[in-house]
Amino acid sequence: MKITFFLVACCLVLLGLIGDCNGGSLVKNFYRNSCPQAENIVNTKINQYVSTRPELPAKLLRMHFHDCFVRGCDGSVLLNSTDTNTAEKDAIPNLSLAGFDVIDDIKSALEEKCPKTVSCADILALATRDAVSFQFDKPMWEVLTGRRDGTISKSSEVLDNIPSPFSNLTILKQNFANKGLTLHDLVVLSGAHTVGVTHCNLFSERLYNFTGKGDQDPSLDPTYAEFLKTKCQSLDDDTTEVEMDPNSSTNFDSNYYPNLLQNKGIFTSDSALLTTSQSADIVKELVDQQKFFTEFAQSMQKMGAIQVLSGSGGEIRINCSLVNS
Ligand code: HEM
Ligand SMILES: *[C@@H]1O[C@H](CO)[C@@H](O)[C@H](O)[C@H]1NC(C)=O
Ligand SMILES: *[C@@H]1O[C@H](CO)[C@@H](O)[C@H](O)[C@H]1NC(C)=O
Ligand SMILES: *[C@@H]1O[C@H](CO)[C@@H](O)[C@H](O)[C@H]1NC(C)=O
Ligand SMILES: *[C@@H]1O[C@H](CO)[C@@H](O)[C@H](O)[C@H]1NC(C)=O
Ligand SMILES: *[C@@H]1O[C@H](CO)[C@@H](O)[C@H](O)[C@H]1NC(C)=O
Ligand SMILES: *[C@@H]1O[C@H](CO)[C@@H](O)[C@H](O)[C@H]1NC(C)=O
Repeated sequence: MKITFFLVACCLVLLGLIGDCNGGSLVKNFYRNSCPQAENIVNTKINQYVSTRPELPAKLLRMHFHDCFVRGCDGSVLLNSTDTNTAEKDAIPNLSLAGFDVIDDIKSALEEKCPKTVSCADILALATRDAVSFQFDKPMWEVLTGRRDGTISKSSEVLDNIPSPFSNLTILKQNFANKGLTLHDLVVLSGAHTVGVTHCNLFSERLYNFTGKGDQDPSLDPTYAEFLKTKCQSLDDDTTEVEMDPNSSTNFDSNYYPNLLQNKGIFTSDSALLTTSQSADIVKELVDQQKFFTEFAQSMQKMGAIQVLSGSGGEIRINCSLVNS
């Protein structure tokens, strides 16, 4: 009896703590009174942009991920470097980060209607959801709001926090655990690689020099490797872009998982998800698209709540690329 009570008490305490870590401060429609049209303005703008820029959902999805993994979802990824500070934007893993202009434009529209009210971190979270949801005509996950904007953005913090495409499962699990995310979240969120592109230099060693002996990664499907070699002819090509989900890179679907099971994950970090039976079982479950969408919605909510600033923390930036003066 006593032991049971103790365990229950422990669980409650843990749940309380986890609740807090998971952005207990965020709420539904935080701007209900202060800026009722906020979410509509974001949605209208995003629909206009995505209809002419089909790559935008991928750009924003990755930007939101990078925002949340460095100093929490505080809009720090949006800040420009200054004379005295090199910002996250200008760190090495920034290849193909894009869409800043869209966030800035939405912010201008919001500043006109509701000055100094809607945070850049919330705009990014909402814009990401709406961009990915565009093809479905309905929101694919819930975005709670009330994030505040950080004032610090350092390029030196990026490499330690953004997972590397060269990492194995042990390291990736650690990267995610550091943000309060589980192995399950890791496998689910990696499904984001169903959209977007990458650059040759981030995977070409798997084609040409896997162990430093001019060899190929045996865990990469040989036919897919031949296809990738036609796109990427040198190890250090950092300009050629390759679709991560061939022929379906602007379509958000569960293709990532069947591809992965055929050893067609493009990064070492993708194929790493097959290296334990526990993670491989999750991959197999997510082939089912409905299941993937449901799980993705949950994990995105968790990611969107990492270390958010609330209350009097941070500020509401007036210009998303600059801290307030
Ligand atoms: C599991 C660890 C992860 C690693 C190692 C990783 C690594 C990468 C790398 C290296 C690129 C290519 C960058 C480039 O060449 O331009 C990329 C692209 C992308 N990643 Fe990830 N990523 C991870 C997780 C995530 C998560 C959690 C999300 C979002 C939920 C995400 C969304 C994306 C998207 C949408 C792109 C395509 C961007 C574009 O088209 O410009 N990734 N990722
Ligand atoms: C931030 O940098 C971008 C790209 O260099 C630029 O277009 C934008 O105007 C800058 N923002 C501010 C507020 O200076
Ligand atoms: C990435 O960083 C480099 C400097 O390290 C910078 O020149 C480039 O504009 C940055 N790219 C983006 C998309 O911000
Ligand atoms: C942000 O600052 C840039 C450069 O000063 C300016 O062009 C832009 O209009 C500003 N955006 C907003 C929303 O104030
Ligand atoms: C994963 O990578 C780390 C760092 O490169 C290495 O120390 C570790 O031995 C690797 N683990 C496995 C299981 O390969
Ligand atoms: C392949 O890797 C080895 C060991 O890291 C290196 O010495 C060699 O120069 C690489 N080959 C090419 C073509 O880059
Ligand atoms: C993509 O489409 C092209 C043209 O239809 C086709 O030749 C190619 O095999 C397709 N690639 C994959 C990986 O399905």
